[in-house]
Amino acid sequence: MFFSCEQPDPALSPDPFKACVVPRPIGWISTVDAAGHRNLAPFSFFNAISELPPMVMFCANGEHKDGGEKDSVTEIYNLPCEEEIGRMVMGRVLGTHIADGAIVNGRVSAARLAPIARLGYREYAALGEIFKMTRPGTP
Ligand SMILES: Cc1cc2nc3c(=O)[nH]c(=O)nc-3n(C[C@H](O)[C@H](O)[C@H](O)COP(=O)(O)O)c2cc1C
Repeated sequence: MFFSCEQPDPALSPDPFKACVVPRPIGWISTVDAAGHRNLAPFSFFNAISELPPMVMFCANGEHKDGGEKDSVTEIYNLPCEEEIGRMVMGRVLGTHIADGAIVNGRVSAARLAPIARLGYREYAALGEIFKMTRPGTP
């Protein structure tokens, strides 16, 4: 079937869009505003988007619980919002803190990280089997 995001089909409710792009990593966005107020919030519209240079993004949708923009956005940019369509924030990664226990033989171990993935609706997932593959033509 075809699901139109602009004319949602009531037979597929809630909206299946988020359930069609899975699994999504959950980024913990930590920010500090000019007054030193700290904020930490999870975002599943988050991903690494470039290797050279290393870059990540997250997207804020909806409003802060008290109205207006979410703190994760205002603490980075103090911009007025004229139309509520969400904000995408992209950032260049200057460095990464890695838990010592997650490093095995000089590599970050996905098994040790044990990430939780966001699925659709109220669903989440843990890692299943981890396997290796090489690209065709790669030794
Ligand atoms: C697992 C998880 C993923 C979320 N992903 C998003 C997201 O991608 N975009 C978004 O706007 N809110 C997302 N939220 C909701 C925000 O975390 C929540 O609105 C939070 O209060 C952010 O607002 P703040 O920046 O004002 O603290 C998510 C919540 C959870 C629990």
